[in-house]
Amino acid sequence: MAFKIGLLGLGTVGTGTAQILLNPQGRHPLLQEIEIHRVGVRDLDKSRSVQLPDGILTTYLEEIVNDPEVDIVVEVMGGLEPARTLILKAISSGKHVVTANKAVIARYGDEIFTAANQAGVYVMLEAAVGGGIPVIQPLKQSLGVNRIHAVTGIVNGTTNYILTRMQTEKGEFADILADAQQLGYAEADPSADVDGLDAADKIAILASLAFGGRIKLSDVYCEGIRGVSATDIAYAEKLGFVIKLLAIAKQDRQATAKAPEALQVRVHPTMVPLAHPLASISGVYNAIVVEGEPIGQVMFFGPGAGMGPTASAVVSDIMNVVAVLKSGGQPAKLHPLLSCSHQHYCTIAPMQELVTRFYARFLTYDRPGVIGKLGTSFGNHHVSLESIVQTGFHGTLAEIVVVTHDVREGNFRQALDEIRSLDAIDSIPSILRVL
Ligand code: NAP
Ligand code: HSE
Repeated sequence: MAFKIGLLGLGTVGTGTAQILLNPQGRHPLLQEIEIHRVGVRDLDKSRSVQLPDGILTTYLEEIVNDPEVDIVVEVMGGLEPARTLILKAISSGKHVVTANKAVIARYGDEIFTAANQAGVYVMLEAAVGGGIPVIQPLKQSLGVNRIHAVTGIVNGTTNYILTRMQTEKGEFADILADAQQLGYAEADPSADVDGLDAADKIAILASLAFGGRIKLSDVYCEGIRGVSATDIAYAEKLGFVIKLLAIAKQDRQATAKAPEALQVRVHPTMVPLAHPLASISGVYNAIVVEGEPIGQVMFFGPGAGMGPTASAVVSDIMNVVAVLKSGGQPAKLHPLLSCSHQHYCTIAPMQELVTRFYARFLTYDRPGVIGKLGTSFGNHHVSLESIVQTGFHGTLAEIVVVTHDVREGNFRQALDEIRSLDAIDSIPSILRVL
């Protein structure tokens, strides 16, 4: 008897998923026991690049999630609604769920996993982070015995593509974005990618798994790449860095006995030292570095999106659920390595408590003593400088670039407030954190 799939969506990921399931030869033998039963779409007249059995396409998605013959609902339609409601209805009808929808999981994971645990069903989400890169199951299983210290990733291919091209072509953000949109690498509305929101969804999910607690999306600090300029990319290169949009979840070094779980969870453009494994990740690729004890450092690398890679992750989730069901797993007894058991919310450290290095670029009037005044203001707030250089001129303004040692962000911001009030300062065009 085959396990029956109700597929919600037949776009990029849905089509890739159907293609794998309809061509099981040469893949894991369990795939031969999986059948696509119904497929939900918006438009029945659209031409499709996959040949499905007659009569299984429908626009009534509720019928799929309520269909007593469906064992696993695969949500690859995207968006928040009706995806969230359909997932919850599938769960309440006793269906297992596989989803690629990071936006829904990052916002409604609490509601969805609570409902799934009550109903005794699995909700699987390998495709939601890193596309084809296996990182969810490794965090749950293979790395599960480690104490995780940090998860640091390039988890958005669009922004990595734009930053890579800005670096290689010395181009400005707006020009490269426009070209990326024309070439189909960036969406017409690029804000989810370029403002860091997609990466924030993904790091909230990774942090939850790595640190064993739920994460409120509103606690995730999020800064996108619109402010990154060709000038800063050139300075980064001179100083031995490359600028990447990093998503970081890290156990706070300031954690105390009173707040042992305080985590930093943040997304921002970052100066990455050229020797760091993430510095060489170019174009649309994703990579995630997991650091823990006793494993040390592990990097997951691969295609973070696309039909085939994302479908590979979706179907691997389907296969895992089928494997558990076949081996007699009872809904009332969820497999602890496949289900989500944590209930509490992690405490997230405020950004002013973050301790990191900073890069800042100042435009100043070219007067004697300006560098001294900058140094004094930083010193007044306990900000120690690693380097300070005057590198050139913008018209009549001098350009001064500073890299700090590790400092508390709150102190660095106070120093900047004082510096802004100095007569000699015209502006501070950029501030970037350094990994
Ligand atoms: P897509 O190409 O836009 O496909 C969406 C599919 O869902 C279409 O078949 C569409 O029907 C159907 N659909 C959407 N809203 C619907 C509604 N209200 N009622 C009925 N059908 C509806 O999307 P995608 O790129 O495959 O992405 C799907 C999910 O995977 C998203 O959550 C996305 O974030 C995630 N994901 C995508 C990638 C990727 O590389 N694309 C990578 C990782 C994760 P029609 O075909 O009739 O329009
Ligand atoms: N928009 C995402 C990216 C792809 O650019 O990485 C799907 O997660």
